[in-house]
Amino acid sequence: MSQPEIFRTIAEMRAAVARWRGQGEKIALIPTMGALHAGHLSLAEFARAKGFGRTVYSIFVNPTQFAANEDFGAYPRTFAADVDKLASIGADGCFAPPPEEIYPAGFSTKVIPGGPALAGLEDKFRPDHFAGVAQVVAKLLNQAQADGACFGEKDFQQLAVIRQMARDLDIPTQIFGVPIKREADGLAMSSRNVYLSAEERGQAVLLSQVLSETAEAIRAGKDVSALCAAAAQKIEAGGFALDYFEARHAESLAPVAALADGPVRLLVAARLGRTRLIDNMAV
Ligand code: PAJ
Repeated sequence: MSQPEIFRTIAEMRAAVARWRGQGEKIALIPTMGALHAGHLSLAEFARAKGFGRTVYSIFVNPTQFAANEDFGAYPRTFAADVDKLASIGADGCFAPPPEEIYPAGFSTKVIPGGPALAGLEDKFRPDHFAGVAQVVAKLLNQAQADGACFGEKDFQQLAVIRQMARDLDIPTQIFGVPIKREADGLAMSSRNVYLSAEERGQAVLLSQVLSETAEAIRAGKDVSALCAAAAQKIEAGGFALDYFEARHAESLAPVAALADGPVRLLVAARLGRTRLIDNMAV
């Protein structure tokens, strides 16, 4: 089991990336906030399958994407365990910068994403979130200068925002979307699942169940908006406080009225106690 090289500075990471490239390898960057689980680890598996010989994870809990009322302080930080997991899958590098490496004194540039960042999904409930994500991801992509970067479909709107930003800003790194990794009962893996009590963990499976039965009913030709309203009711009856349950175009994220307007993606966000969960599924 080989240990990943740990980089604390941009210069160290760039030097390793340049060295690997000099050896003829293709490098994939996998940005994360740590508290790694099998969903995060599946991103490297995907990168390898796409021909990337080297993988670098970044672990940085980015303060600018959390609102004041969100869980920045409480966000799980498990660096030693994360490095062990990266070693177990043979990841080559781990960029774990101190905050001042990313936001040095005097830092003052914002990245304001449009298009999919204004779709009326996560942005409605977390208004400044995608500006923080776009800011840090633009920086990480420039810092690593990798050939590719992998992002999970778990954060479906985030993936669309990053694709749009990379295209608009001519960032040469190729962006990949990776399917959602789920627990055996269907719950989408998330670093935030550790917040769930045993009882809430039992209830949480409802989100993926309702997504898959709704997707199936839409495929069978039933009315999309009636199905989404029924899905919303089921989720609320299951003890969640619902933020949204929506059917959207999988690429533009525009609302869709019918299967023929697709490809259709169902997206949900709901709170269980103090934990906010998101999930989505293709129709
Ligand atoms: P984080 O929530 O740590 O997620 C890191 C990456 O792992 C994201 O691309 C996310 O979509 C992916 N991921 C998380 N759970 C997954 C699952 N169950 N299956 C597949 N992929 C999954 O998303 C972020 O961090 C941050 O916003 C970041 C992009 C790193 C910017 O700070």
